[in-house]
Amino acid sequence: MPSASPGADWLHDLPLAPGSPDLRMGTRALDVTQWLPVDDKTPAEIELRKQLLAEHGSDVARIVPGHETGLTELTSLIEIHLQRRLDPEVGAPVDQLAVATAEDMLVMWRDEKHWRLIGGTLLFPNQWNLNDKIGKTVAAIHAPVDGYSELLEARVDQFFDRLSAARPVWRRNWFFHQDPTFYQPNRMIESPVFSIAEVEQLYIRSEWQTLRRLAFSGLIIFTVKTQVEPITELKARPALAEQMCVFLESASARSLENKDATDRHVAIIDYLRS
Ligand code: HEM
Repeated sequence: MPSASPGADWLHDLPLAPGSPDLRMGTRALDVTQWLPVDDKTPAEIELRKQLLAEHGSDVARIVPGHETGLTELTSLIEIHLQRRLDPEVGAPVDQLAVATAEDMLVMWRDEKHWRLIGGTLLFPNQWNLNDKIGKTVAAIHAPVDGYSELLEARVDQFFDRLSAARPVWRRNWFFHQDPTFYQPNRMIESPVFSIAEVEQLYIRSEWQTLRRLAFSGLIIFTVKTQVEPITELKARPALAEQMCVFLESASARSLENKDATDRHVAIIDYLRS
């Protein structure tokens, strides 16, 4: 039995309630003091972000012109929250944001009809990139998500309209991945997994996401904290591992697909129960 490292205790927050519906809003009230949390991995993650920013520049951090005031409001909010100034030597304001925290921050703006992505920072993308999605509506951004238009689109649009600056929220997603790399800007084809030895090479990748409206500009900031742990950390927590097995046993084909667990779930269950 592998031993559990405390740095992976966030695994206990994975949403593992079994059964339908396949896709959930899963939003919960956020205590703002918990926004942008710092943990023992944060310094190394910020170093990695600095490298990625130097390599990829405006492909990973940019804002559509015309929204500078909103960006200034976001910067002030972050400075107050972190109780320190962002580093002006890093470069443009959006570059400073990119390396100020371990979180990615996507900026949403409402035109006459729709909420749209107008930029932000995306250094730890989970198989998507800013160039493909910038300027798009929330619905268009989610076009590749099977079931989104049917189950979530109307609810998310309405949720955005009603989100108040006083009541930010959080949600969490998770996936089984073969590659633990944080910077994954392109869709990857995951292979089927049949043996226990192959399962042991898998990782759980999860995003702790928050949504917060800025009081003056009205922009909505979507933050994404990416966390990756080897599946052995799940195995090291037997009660949680059993919860995962129950989830996988009852999940629909669409839900398994959404978790990158298709053609793997049987082997994963065998491993977690062995
Ligand atoms: C309450 C708000 C939101 C909900 C309920 C939601 C829901 C979802 C769900 C269910 C998925 C499938 C993967 C997963 O389980 O996370 C997804 C994927 C995704 N979401 Fe959201 N989302 C929300 C807000 C946003 C925002 C503001 C953005 C802005 C960039 C965004 C960008 C994406 C992207 C890029 C994907 C991957 C799409 C792809 O496969 O290409 N989401 N979202």
